This record gives sequence, C-alpha cells and structure tokens, in this order.
Amino acid sequence: MPTTNTTPETLTTIASIGQHVGQTVTLRGWLYNLRSSGKLLFPTFRDGTGTIQGIVPKAAVSEELFETLKNLTLESSLIVSGTVSAHPKDPAIFELQVTALTVTQRIPDATPFPIQLKENGPDFLMEHRHLWLRTPRQSAILRVRATIMRAAAEYFDTNGFFRTDPPILTPNACEGTSELFEMDYFGDDKAFLTQSGQLYVEATAMALGKVYSFGPTFRAEKSKTRRHLTEFWMIEPEVTYLDLEGLMQLADDFLSHIVTRVLESHQADLKVIGKDITKLEAVIAPGPDGERVPFPKLSYDEAHQMLLDAHAKGLLENAHTYGDDFGSPDETYISNQFSKPVMVHRYPAAVKAFYMQPDPADPTKALCVDVLAPEGYGEIIGGSQRVDDYDLLHSRIVAHNLPLDAFQWYLDLRKYGSVPHSGFGMGIERCVAWICGLDHVRETIPFARTLNRIYP
Ligand code: 4AD
Ligand code: MG
Repeated sequence: MPTTNTTPETLTTIASIGQHVGQTVTLRGWLYNLRSSGKLLFPTFRDGTGTIQGIVPKAAVSEELFETLKNLTLESSLIVSGTVSAHPKDPAIFELQVTALTVTQRIPDATPFPIQLKENGPDFLMEHRHLWLRTPRQSAILRVRATIMRAAAEYFDTNGFFRTDPPILTPNACEGTSELFEMDYFGDDKAFLTQSGQLYVEATAMALGKVYSFGPTFRAEKSKTRRHLTEFWMIEPEVTYLDLEGLMQLADDFLSHIVTRVLESHQADLKVIGKDITKLEAVIAPGPDGERVPFPKLSYDEAHQMLLDAHAKGLLENAHTYGDDFGSPDETYISNQFSKPVMVHRYPAAVKAFYMQPDPADPTKALCVDVLAPEGYGEIIGGSQRVDDYDLLHSRIVAHNLPLDAFQWYLDLRKYGSVPHSGFGMGIERCVAWICGLDHVRETIPFARTLNRIYP
C-alpha cells in the first residue's frame, strides 16, 4: 500500500483546513460519500477530524483520476490533494478542488462497506459498532467525549488534586452486593471488578488531602435502560475536611469547567450531533450582574413536594412515595424544571449507601447529593460526606450484612486520625449523553457493554 511522499508542509487535516484557503494541500482519509452529476463529481472525504466536500469537474482533471474516483467504493481509503476554497455562500465551510488522488485500499464492489447511507436499526449498528464509529455523528461524539475526559482530569490536575488510581480487582463491594461481577482469584479467594474507586480514594485522601481517581468501573446491573452500562468510566474526587456544601460547590465548578471546554472547541461537532448549543450555554450563563449563578439546589423533601404537585396537575403519572428513591420519570421531571444541573441533597439514609454521613439536623437523612443534568437527563453525579466515626461505620457495615473482614482496612481509616471528608463520582458516559443530547448511553463510549451485548 502506498505511503505518502508529499512534503510535510502540504499535509493537513480537515479540522485545520481553514488555515489553507487558496493553497494546495494533501489529506489522508476515506471516501465517505459520492454524488455525481454527469461531468461533475462531489465526493465527501473524511479523515477523523471532520468531513469536507470535494469538487471534481471532468474537464479539470485527468481521465484516469475522474474514472477512479467515479468508480470508487464508499469507505475506501485514500490520499487526496487539492486546492482549498471557502464556500461561496458560507465562508465557514471549505471545499477541496481535487487535483490528485491515490487510493490506498479500494473496497471491492462485491463486498461493499456494510453500513450504507440509509436508515439502519440500532441493533444492526451496534453489531457493526467497529465500523459505525466512522460515521460523522459517531466520530463527533467520540471527539466530544475525549474533550470531556480531558477537561474532567484537567479540572482536578489544575486545582491541587493528586490522581491516585484505585485497583480494578477488589475483595469487596462498594455500591451494593447485587451488582458485582465476581471472579475466581487463584482458587481460594474471590475477587470482584470494582464498582467505584471511592473506598480507595478515601484512603489516598487521608495520605494526600485532595485526590481523584479516573478509570473503568463495573456494575452487573440487570437493567436494560438508556442510562445503564455494565462497564463505564468514572471520575471520583475525594477531599479531606470538605462538607456537603463544599462538595456541591466543587461539583458545580467542575461541571461548569467541562461545559466551558466543550463549548470552546466543539461547536461544529455539536452541530453534526444535533445538539442545541443554547442549552449548554444556559448551564454556564452568568446572572444580569455578570456574576456566576450557582446551580439550583433542592432538598429531597422539596423535590418530593415538587413531584407531588406535578402528579396533582396530571404532569406525572405516578405519585412519588415519601421515603422512596426517585425513579427515572421523577428525575426526568425534576431536571426538566431547570436550565442548569440541579443538586438534590439529603435523601433518606435508608435508600442510600452505608458509608454516607447522617445529617446531624435529621439523622434519618444522609448528607449526600445527586446532580441531575438538565433536559431530563437525570443523575450524572452521586456523592456524599462520609461517615468518619469508627463505631457508626462499624454498625453500618454490620447492618448492611457486609463482610467485616473485607472492610477492616476501610475501618482503619476511622481508627487512625479520622477527619470529615467528602467526595463524588461522575459517570463519563452519562455526562457525554447529556452534553451531546443522546437518547442512549450506548453511543457515548467506543464499545458499549450492556446487559445483552459484549460484541464487538
Ligand atoms: O451514584 P453512584 O453509584 O455512586 C458511586 O459509585 C459513589 N461511590 C461515587 C463516589 O462518591 N465516589 O455512581 C456514580 C455515578 C452516577 O451518578 C452515574 O453518573 C454513574 O456513576 N453510573 C453509571 N453510569 C453508567 N452506567 C451505570 N450502570 C452507572 N451506574 C452509575
Ligand atoms: Mg447514584
């Protein structure tokens, strides 16, 4: 297969082609689409950074080039050179007047690219995910995902946090034993795939103060919803001497940073994806005085009342039962009432995890927060202040029927210099689904793992 022999000056990418108007450049990519009208060909090229339309008048190129391109199969790989021009009607759109073409690999006519440019069902597309990733919308989503991951880590890296990555193989559960992937660990012991790095970042926080972890987490959830994956990426800060108020402030700052970064560099991608950018701008919109407006906060009790009112007005089918967790329709309703993410705090302790600190003002409530993304997206962040008293944590572990021996090290953190501390976890895929405006988390990660899919 040919390697390019073009000079490095002329080699560029579609994303940066605007700097080369009037020049002749070379792109390495694939044929995404091809239209022809007699003596004119309109190929669309893609190169991983975007797409660009080429223009090929028969009279302007060699017969060989014209015929090669005219008969080229979609998704064949190629190296194309041409002169860059701005679109006559929209100077933000660029076109390539093709001057040379080398086909790297031509897909034979007998075995066309499986994903044709028509409506394909989600099952077919997921079965061909390794190829579906190449289409402009999917590529755009992955580029936004990459920025979200970078911005998330950058926020902590530039605010005094140390990244401390926890193990993936763990001896105990963090978020409930019914959702654990279990494996044999050399015969005698069992190991589980981690559900959250939290317990370990609590330990590293006691060593370093402000820490975070960022890695894959696993939930053997038997739920087939639009929001659930069995493998997903979580970023989890943990901070000593931080209370629930401080934690909510941290979540607000962190999400605002991510949205700012995405808006800075992905306007074109968000357009391809079909996201209404004004919805993201509203998230970080300042108040009339130019001051930053914090995300709204609602206690569980207030959220419950809001749901009852909605039910009474016929806006919600089911009446929420006090004491229960919120279901998906409840979260959707609550988050739809705000243009910024809403922080719901102080849930009943009974529906939350064993490690959450009780509210001194009402010990039946936990000092916890769920951040619900706008536009009905629901929970993207879950966090809390942690129990810091040895005896209370011990009794919680026993009450939750968790194996004390596996949690001995975690209890040690309350035995030797315990301090108040808080942290949260954000699932990257939930965040990508919200920011890109996607119906389903399966499009937010290169290869989704769900209840009924582990291929490709
Ligand atoms: O609310 P969760 O279960 O909280 C924890 O795991 C805490 N230990 C985190 C912490 O305090 N350090 O999960 C946190 C976030 C959720 O808000 C959601 O964004 C995501 O992880 N998440 C999932 N994402 C996709 N698929 C699933 N099955 C998810 N379960 C949780
Ligand atoms: Mg949660």
